[in-house]
Amino acid sequence: MKFQEIKNNIYYCGLNDCDRRIFDELIPLEHGTSYNSYLVKGSEKTAIIDTMYPPKTKEYLKRLVDNQVGKVDYIIANHGEQDHSGSIPALLEKYPNAIVITNPKCAENIKSMLHVPDEKIRVIADGEEVSLGDKTLKFIFAPGVHWPDTMFTYIKEDNVLCTCDFLGAHYTFSDVFAVESKELEKSAKRYYAEIMMPFRMMCKKYTQMIKDMHVDVILPSHGPVYTNPDYILDLYADWTADAPKNLVTMPYVSMYNSTKEMIEYLSNKLEENGIQTFKFDIVDDDLGDLAMSLVDAATIVMGTSMVLAGPHPMAVNVAYLAAVLRPKAKFGALIGSYGWGGNLFGKIGELLAPLKLDLIEPLQVKGKPKEEDFKKLDEIAQAIYEKHKSLNLV
Ligand SMILES: Cc1cc2nc3c(=O)[nH]c(=O)nc-3n(C[C@H](O)[C@H](O)[C@H](O)COP(=O)(O)O)c2cc1C
Ligand SMILES: [Fe+2]
Ligand SMILES: [Fe+2]
Repeated sequence: MKFQEIKNNIYYCGLNDCDRRIFDELIPLEHGTSYNSYLVKGSEKTAIIDTMYPPKTKEYLKRLVDNQVGKVDYIIANHGEQDHSGSIPALLEKYPNAIVITNPKCAENIKSMLHVPDEKIRVIADGEEVSLGDKTLKFIFAPGVHWPDTMFTYIKEDNVLCTCDFLGAHYTFSDVFAVESKELEKSAKRYYAEIMMPFRMMCKKYTQMIKDMHVDVILPSHGPVYTNPDYILDLYADWTADAPKNLVTMPYVSMYNSTKEMIEYLSNKLEENGIQTFKFDIVDDDLGDLAMSLVDAATIVMGTSMVLAGPHPMAVNVAYLAAVLRPKAKFGALIGSYGWGGNLFGKIGELLAPLKLDLIEPLQVKGKPKEEDFKKLDEIAQAIYEKHKSLNLV
């Protein structure tokens, strides 16, 4: 297929991956993804910004040939992760005069992960510029969104910024220009939650930096390009804001429904008090939805039944994930059911400790909840209400 021109000799040369169902063996994909690669033709030199996911290399090279890309001078590696850098060795073989331009950390990564030889790499400094003739590429290091090696490439004359994984979405398209929709917003939020949220403060910083640059077009390395940068930047400003929303996210696992009954009861009570809730069945539901709810939630309530003297292993997994995603939640509560004994919450508490949640008195119930247990759930609902009120959320 013919490359789509984005602006003045800047072309989209990436590919959709409609069949991909999971990313990083962790994140279910609702819409597949795209691996974006951009061709920039200057009056003297031609550059390719980011390459391709290894399984798509053959298709990618064919696409370059079909579009008569005869010469490539520079391959810009904004980031060493293989979904973008993976085809560098094949490109170097196809275009033997090309050199890779990248930052010191990414250079180390592509040497160790892809065995790109030293002599093929030109290491640049933060803020350094490389001329393509009538176009200038300026490199802006952006460590932390999401690897230490991440950088942005700014095409000066066109006021276009390639933001690498930052501001991306796992989304496919036939027209590269973003059509603003709830679906796209959801994909971008899911992507933010799983990939960028652990680095929220860095995301906040770069969102503001890009806002101040007043760029015309944002070219991320997954999902469509934004000719209205404020659309994605305003979403990021909301997601990265310090204040949580009036939402309680409730992941739970329950083998015989005792814990589930408590989660449902608590959720109803909270909703009656004007607090939004998101119940998440750890076994059946999609982890992406949980991650998305964690972008906004003020409170996390975890529910688990006791298994082999501790919390259910699936709850342990989710507590670990919630902790590493580093959501902005402020409050927490633990509820669950047991049969005879063990330590129901110890492990979960330990795993969630880095979030420094203000924890409400936990509730563990022997078997199915009874009237007195529902009273305790009323108290937990009231405590959550008061915590939310203290932040002016209700
Ligand atoms: C495989 C398995 C292992 C269990 N191990 C324990 C245990 O070590 N200690 C305990 O108190 N209860 C244990 N139980 C009992 C459950 O915790 C108890 O039935 C609880 O009420 C289940 O809650 P749920 O209805 O939310 O699944 C175990 C149950 C199963 C099925
Ligand atoms: Fe990445
Ligand atoms: Fe990526």
